[in-house]
Amino acid sequence: MAEHIVVSVQNRVLTLRLDRPEKKNALTLSMYRGMIEALQQAEADPAVRVVLITGTADCFTAGNDLMDFANAKPGETSPAIIYLQTLAAAQKPVIAAVGGVAVGIGTTMLLHCDLAYAASGARFQLPFVNLGLCPEAGSSILLPALMGHRRAAGLLYFGEPFSSEVAQELGIVNAVLPASELLATATAKAQQLAEKPPSALRTTKALLKHSAAGSVADAMARETEKFAALLQGPEAREAMMAFMQRRKPDFSKF
Ligand code: COA
Repeated sequence: MAEHIVVSVQNRVLTLRLDRPEKKNALTLSMYRGMIEALQQAEADPAVRVVLITGTADCFTAGNDLMDFANAKPGETSPAIIYLQTLAAAQKPVIAAVGGVAVGIGTTMLLHCDLAYAASGARFQLPFVNLGLCPEAGSSILLPALMGHRRAAGLLYFGEPFSSEVAQELGIVNAVLPASELLATATAKAQQLAEKPPSALRTTKALLKHSAAGSVADAMARETEKFAALLQGPEAREAMMAFMQRRKPDFSKF
């Protein structure tokens, strides 16, 4: 099993837990590989009917590891992309339980989960522009489809944190729960789905996703190209350096 990923199967639910709390569960290349493997295992194993993705008690994930971003080589396909494609193509229902921070891909991966539950103190954030980057995970079309252009622009242009209650209002999560009940409730929901007729559930999921699937794949391809170019650019370099040096970035020279 990959480092910092804990996978378990119980009552036909595969739980994938992000477990790197000392770095706020920031996702490394090896964690993405572990997450891809877990999703593939869930798809292949007839004993698994539902996937539950969660983090540690006070953190879902702070998004992509910024050191990995800083060291990214031009032209390499990031396992993050393959993870997102695998998640978007999952045939079995996927539920997310978000406690604490959900930054960047921590928020955008929720757009590919069928259901999402958040702890009342959780914080969501889409800081791509602030990092000299652009949206990924198909979020450039999924966010406006969910909440309209204006509200998507507000989240993406400013990149400020927002609460679970706002995430619920915007349709990013289904419900907000007390932190102490988050995992038990999300697990109970997953088990409830695991008892449903599996073909009927998967067919329903496939039908729900059918009309958007092509445009989401196109959006991901478009975003990936732009994101990769920006990641190699001076604005992203300044943003990453500023994070590491714990200072405010200076974009005045661009
Ligand atoms: N990549 C790498 N390391 C990260 C990280 C990331 N995305 N997010 C947090 N960390 C590390 C910090 O560097 C710190 O490490 P250190 O203790 O060795 O210095 C540790 O995790 C704890 O983070 P810290 O910033 O001290 O915690 P906080 O509670 O004050 O803030 C966040 C939490 C998530 C708000 C803040 O860490 C943050 O903004 N992280 C960057 C998120 C981001 O931009 N992700 C990319 C999205 S595309």
